[in-house]
Amino acid sequence: MDKEVKSHLFVVLGATGDLMHRKLLPALFHLGQKGLLRKKSLILGAARRSGITDEDFRQQARESLTAAGVPIDDPASRWCSSCLHYQSIGKGTEEDYRSLGRRIEELEQTHGLPGNRAFYLALPPAAFPPTISGLAQAGLNQSKGWTRLVIEKPFGHNLASARELNRLVHHHFEESQIYRIDHYLGKETVQNFLAFRFANPIFESLWNRDRIDSVEITVAESLGIEDRAGYYDRAGALRDMMQNHLTQLLTLTAMEVPAAFDAESIRHEKVKVLRSIPPLRPEDVVFGQYARGQVEGKKAPGYLEETGVPPDSHTETFVAMRVEVANWRWQGVPFYLRTGKRLPQRLSRIVITFRRPPVSVFVPTDSTDSCSVHSNTLVITLQPDEGFDLHFEVKTPRRPITLKTQRLSFRYAETFEPLSGAYETLLLDVLTGEQTLFVRADEVEASWRLHTPLLDRRAAPDPYRAGTWGPTAADRLPARENRIWLPV
Ligand code: BG6
Repeated sequence: MDKEVKSHLFVVLGATGDLMHRKLLPALFHLGQKGLLRKKSLILGAARRSGITDEDFRQQARESLTAAGVPIDDPASRWCSSCLHYQSIGKGTEEDYRSLGRRIEELEQTHGLPGNRAFYLALPPAAFPPTISGLAQAGLNQSKGWTRLVIEKPFGHNLASARELNRLVHHHFEESQIYRIDHYLGKETVQNFLAFRFANPIFESLWNRDRIDSVEITVAESLGIEDRAGYYDRAGALRDMMQNHLTQLLTLTAMEVPAAFDAESIRHEKVKVLRSIPPLRPEDVVFGQYARGQVEGKKAPGYLEETGVPPDSHTETFVAMRVEVANWRWQGVPFYLRTGKRLPQRLSRIVITFRRPPVSVFVPTDSTDSCSVHSNTLVITLQPDEGFDLHFEVKTPRRPITLKTQRLSFRYAETFEPLSGAYETLLLDVLTGEQTLFVRADEVEASWRLHTPLLDRRAAPDPYRAGTWGPTAADRLPARENRIWLPV
């Protein structure tokens, strides 16, 4: 890993697309503004579209920055003029990639760049293989400096396709050059979760089956599928969220203390968690699809009424599951995971529920059962209102003894400046060669190995009203074992 970002060329393939304009450009601009890219840093946008000049591209970028809330004052406008360039890759023939190579060399020569290059594939998944091969055939998989390849999700659509894609990338690039994105890993709160676990022995010593009763991981969205029916209807919640984001959160929650705080040690521990998960049983998985309802006070259409969704689609917009991690630390502790669209609110959290006292010494004196002891819970809120809450029991100041749950809280917003976006963090890591927050080849395959059998067994999803917490069957997962999803 480099201490600071060296002069480089950042090449985005798919530069006319949504990801570039909504996420990557604002993130690259903010990194520059914060002085984190001190050395020369140029951006070359590449896409199929021809007839776009550098100036056209800069103008589009100015508009995108404005839309992302960046005021287009002198520095922002100058940044666009001095950093951004565009090159068409036409139909993606060998000659097109050779032209891209020539343009890269020309820019490097003109600006005295040492040949450090990042290639970011901001492309639909079907375009990954031809682009990777195209880059390699033009000799762009190596250079005088470093060459890094950033691949957006989804990495494959099942185990076989993920393996195939890994084979192709490994044919042309070393694993140390590859950065597979899961943007959840770039979220500040997710990274802090690791610090929280491994810098605070008070929690680490409780972090096991002796003290923990169950774990809940919820990633809820109030939004529907927006205008992404084409992609989403083929993906569904299992591929779109569960196989990647929630599975990542699960591995971070369950992993052992790494030998060192570096990419290989951390990713090694995460893979071990995935390998410890027994095959998922159909009765432990619930699929749902939103029907018409109300979300945050507004009417919401059903999934089948969304533009572009086939009227008989069985694609799930919600999935909940019970997972076990069969190792010494976690054997017997259920992990309940759920994610869905058009749920009552946007909320991502991890809830650790500790075991209750084996015997309660507080005997209720009346029918209100005011002495019953609730489990201690630790709630890690990843978004929004990022923070930690530890719930515990206190005695109220009266007689007879009455217990009440109180909480100790920490909120980022009250202590720190606003958090950086995930893409800023991840792009900076690519540029410094830090791979901890990227998914390794064996990790992505281990995750697909877990989820792929479910893809083939998916039954028709249970409907749930938009604005509710998913189908009632999802409540039965913890209820079967006398547990509940922690009320929001
Ligand atoms: C993306 C999914 O990976 O994550 C989207 O494709 C989802 O469907 C998004 O909305 C959620 O990300 P965040 O950062 O808004 O929680």
